Amino acid sequence: MKVVEDKFTFDDVLLIPRVSSVNSRWQVDTSTYITDKIKLNIPLVSSNMDTVTEHIMAIAMAKVGGVGIIHRFNSIENEVLEITRVKREQNIIIEKPYVVGKDFTIEELRNLVTEKKVTSFPVVDKGKLIGIITRRDFEFEENQKKKVNELMTKDVITAHKGIPLNDAKQLMYKNKIEKLPLVDKEGNLTGMITSKDVKLLDGYSKASKDKNGRLIVGGSIGIGNDYLERAKALIDAETDFIVVDVANGYLNKTADVVKSVKKLGVSVIAGNVATKEGVLNLKKAGADCVKIGIGPGGACLTRPVAGVGYPQLSAIIECAKNGVNIIADGGISKSGDFAKAIAAGADAAMIGGLFAGTDESPGVVITKENTNYKFYRGMASINAFSDRALKTEESADLEGYTPEGTETLIPYKGSVLKIVNNLVGGLRSSMTYLNSSNLAEFRKNAEFVLLTDSSKRESKYK
Ligand code: XMP
Repeated sequence: MKVVEDKFTFDDVLLIPRVSSVNSRWQVDTSTYITDKIKLNIPLVSSNMDTVTEHIMAIAMAKVGGVGIIHRFNSIENEVLEITRVKREQNIIIEKPYVVGKDFTIEELRNLVTEKKVTSFPVVDKGKLIGIITRRDFEFEENQKKKVNELMTKDVITAHKGIPLNDAKQLMYKNKIEKLPLVDKEGNLTGMITSKDVKLLDGYSKASKDKNGRLIVGGSIGIGNDYLERAKALIDAETDFIVVDVANGYLNKTADVVKSVKKLGVSVIAGNVATKEGVLNLKKAGADCVKIGIGPGGACLTRPVAGVGYPQLSAIIECAKNGVNIIADGGISKSGDFAKAIAAGADAAMIGGLFAGTDESPGVVITKENTNYKFYRGMASINAFSDRALKTEESADLEGYTPEGTETLIPYKGSVLKIVNNLVGGLRSSMTYLNSSNLAEFRKNAEFVLLTDSSKRESKYK
């Protein structure tokens, strides 16, 4: 039997300050790569949990320079829909806009509006643009059976596909239009530009974008029977990467799934593990990035239930610098923890509980004794397990299930942007203390001091 000693987590240490020529927090660059191809301007990833990340959270994260990962505790169709909503959100050019035919009824149109969450549709006949119908045209129409071609605008202002963004902006502004369909010489519809996207693009210069200017997003899969079908569907929906999300990333099956998904030609993030052996195993299977954390998460019960885990700060230190990117996943409850995780070698940190209970997290606000709450639950909690079975039509043996996650009501927090700003503000401050103008310098300059019990009290750690 071997006992490994002296392993630490965030509250066991502090970063040691240095003489610094980085005089302001605004002088620092927080950009990072989570895979060779995926760059973020802030090293933050929202967790693939069903009380944390669906499209609203993923859009918010990508707009500020991080990224969100859509959870997999849903049908394949719904996960695909979530990815699609992110990819369409800030798409300067919507390559395949939703279209309607001239004989569509207003009733059918209204159903499409509800289903697709889009309010304007080009009208096409055999691929050719013949009109456009927007909410204004049909909003007050009482006759549900009326046809689209009776209400649509026929005289449509269009442009060609290569139109420079500024020219498109001017054209839309001059003509007071919000949608600009793009057509080829024969009048076939080839895409559409929306004023909302143009405006948003102006406002989010730091957003995480793909090569087509669309927001980036990750999709997740498990190792169950549907993993390949799900992976292919996510790739078709143009996910930027796939997270192979397994509580136990040490299973041979996890590595096998990574290997087979890599063959589809997509970037893969895999996890979770907490030791160098685990990282090297997933790297060998082809992972482009590995998620680190066994049991540190706020809603985790793996440590008390299975007696398994590894102190998170030591896990990050030992898993970094193994020739593969890493994401520190779990246990970050304040900006100092976030700074320590990055200083210890993580390329980014994944956040669950801190981002739950916000406007952008899924779920409704519940009011109890005059206080507002939202649910946050571990994905291995009993309710998450039974809901997943319902949504994915898997069978679930609730009697025989030992939950490894908790479920709690957490106070409603407002916008996630406040929390992102606090985390990034803390990281920026930490970088100035460590004379670091970028994250590579920050990691190089990082030295930790171990705290005694009284220094922990002095540091306000319980
Ligand atoms: P935080 O601390 O940010 O952690 O809330 C989020 C991470 O916790 C992991 N997670 C779980 N771990 N049982 C566990 O042991 C669970 O039910 C569970 N649900 C989520 C996950 O890695 C997440 O990103």
